[in-house]
Amino acid sequence: MSEETMPGETKPTTLHILAISGSLRKVSSNTALLQAAIALAPENLEVKLYEGLGALPHFNPDLEPTEPPSVTDLRQQVQWSDGLLISSPEYAHGVPGVLKNALDWLVNGEEFVGKPIALLNASPRAIHAQASLTEIVTVMAGRVIPAASITVPLLGQNLDAAGIASDAELSSALHTAIVTFASAIQRCQSEAVRLL
Ligand SMILES: Cc1cc2nc3c(=O)[nH]c(=O)nc-3n(C[C@H](O)[C@H](O)[C@H](O)COP(=O)(O)O)c2cc1C
Repeated sequence: MSEETMPGETKPTTLHILAISGSLRKVSSNTALLQAAIALAPENLEVKLYEGLGALPHFNPDLEPTEPPSVTDLRQQVQWSDGLLISSPEYAHGVPGVLKNALDWLVNGEEFVGKPIALLNASPRAIHAQASLTEIVTVMAGRVIPAASITVPLLGQNLDAAGIASDAELSSALHTAIVTFASAIQRCQSEAVRLL
């Protein structure tokens, strides 16, 4: 479809979504799921994968006044986004340390407050991490969108992003979740404007 608009028409606003995988593995199923979401995103969504998780220093409140550049970059990317799409594995019934570390860096900032969040889950077994992540981002004043937070059963399937995107059932569920998330973000934004 042409990107050009007719005279008098307004171009639909592009929504920005930052996708964060809780896994540092090269062949991570969670990262593959987010990359598939990028491939399936409709035209009015720009979904960007956050690549800095492994480079963040361990959270230490003493470092906050002279913030390390990698943390500033994380903050800026969260600030850029209209919503966060997070997909994380479960380790020992918990949220991976690297993801919790990134979230801890964001606790004292304003970037996260009111941010719509969709929590994808690549494994139906991983119920503890999903529950814990929901609690963490909620207490950080993020807005979890349950209708967009789906479990996509990838465990043991060995699918990469292209494999997920070309699977009719998986891609349909993922596409619906992204579109649902975009509508929820728009609703949150109009609510925020009404409250101004
Ligand atoms: C150290 C370790 C601990 C794990 N603990 C759990 C667990 O408690 N519950 C679970 O469902 N899966 C557990 N798993 C399995 C991972 O969540 C699973 O392999 C997941 O697909 C990894 O995600 P990734 O492919 O994105 O790296 C564990 C894996 C590792 C390496």
